Amino acid sequence: MVDFTIMVSLKGRSFLTLLDYSEEEIRFLLELSKKVKAEKKSGRVNRRFSGKTLALIFEKRSTRTRCAFETAFGEEGGHPVFLSTQDIQLGVKESIEDTARILGRMFDAVQFRGFKQSAVETLAEYAGVPVYNGLTDDFHPTQALADVMTLEENFGPSRGKKLCFVGDGRNNVARSLMVVSAKLGIHFTVVTPAALNPDPILRERCGPLAAASGSRITISSDLAAVEGADAIYTDVWASMGEEGKKEEKTRLLRPYQVNQALMDKTGRPGSIFLHCLPAVKGEEVAADVIDGPQSRAWDEGENRKHTIKALMLATLGLENA
Ligand code: CP
Ligand code: NVA
Repeated sequence: MVDFTIMVSLKGRSFLTLLDYSEEEIRFLLELSKKVKAEKKSGRVNRRFSGKTLALIFEKRSTRTRCAFETAFGEEGGHPVFLSTQDIQLGVKESIEDTARILGRMFDAVQFRGFKQSAVETLAEYAGVPVYNGLTDDFHPTQALADVMTLEENFGPSRGKKLCFVGDGRNNVARSLMVVSAKLGIHFTVVTPAALNPDPILRERCGPLAAASGSRITISSDLAAVEGADAIYTDVWASMGEEGKKEEKTRLLRPYQVNQALMDKTGRPGSIFLHCLPAVKGEEVAADVIDGPQSRAWDEGENRKHTIKALMLATLGLENA
C-alpha cells in the first residue's frame, strides 16, 4: 500500500467542496480516518487538539455533524464553541467577511453549516484558518468522506465499485457523492426523475475528473439502473430549507422509495444500504430496509466522527502529533 502520509500535507487547507482535493489527498484523509477509528476502538486516549479552539457555526439544524465535530475535538483536549445564528451577527449586523476576520483571530478552525455555499467560501477567504463545510445547499463534503469510508469497510478499495444514489439528484448529498466518485474512480449512478436530474454544470465539471479516474457517471430515471449496485444510497425527499417544496418533491419521488424490492433489483445479495441520516422512514426508505441486515447507515453515522477528526488533524497539521 502507498504511504500517503509521506507525500501529502493538508495543513492550513479548508474543506469546502472536495473539487479542489486530489485523489491522493482524499485517500490520505480516508487512510487517516481508518487509523483514527482503530485508535478509538483500541481505547487509546490522545490529546492532539489540546490548546486549540474550533468555532461551530450553524444556520441549519444538525445532530451528527455537530456532535461529530464537538466530540472529536473535545475528547482530544480541544475547545469547541457552538455558535447558532441566534448568537452571532453573521451576515446580519456584520458582514461575513468581518465575522471571518475576527473568528480567524480567535479560533484555529471554523466549521459552517448553512444555506449558501458562498457564505462558507467567504469565511474561508477571510478567516485565515481552515474552514470546513458542514453542509450547504450545494455540498456536503464531510458526509461524502464518511460514505466512502463505509463503502470501503464493506468492500475494500472503492475504485470500480458501483454506488447508486436513488432520490433527489440535485441535492447536496448527491452532488458531493458525484464529486467524490469522480475523484476516486467509483462508478456513480443517480436514479432520479428527469425533473430532478443533477445540475449540468456540476456534471460537466465532474466529467474530466471521472475520465481521469476511470469512474462512470450515469443518470437514469429507470429503477432498473440499480442493477449490479454494491450500495444503494438515499436521502430525504425535501432537504432543509425546502419545506415549501415538500409536496411537489414527494409527488416526484414517491416511486423512488428504497424498499426491499428495490434492494433486490441490484441482483447482489451482498449489496448494502446507505443513508446520510436523518431518515424519514416510510418515505425515501422503508423501515425494514434501514433497520434491516443490509443497512450500514448506523456505521456510516459513526464514521462521520472518525472522518471529521481525521480532517481536523490533517488540516491543523497534527496527524503525526
Ligand atoms: N448527515 C448529517 O449531516 O446529519 P445531521 O444533519 O444530523 O448533522
Ligand atoms: N439533503 C439533506 C441532508 C441532511 C444531512 C438536507 O440538506 O437536509
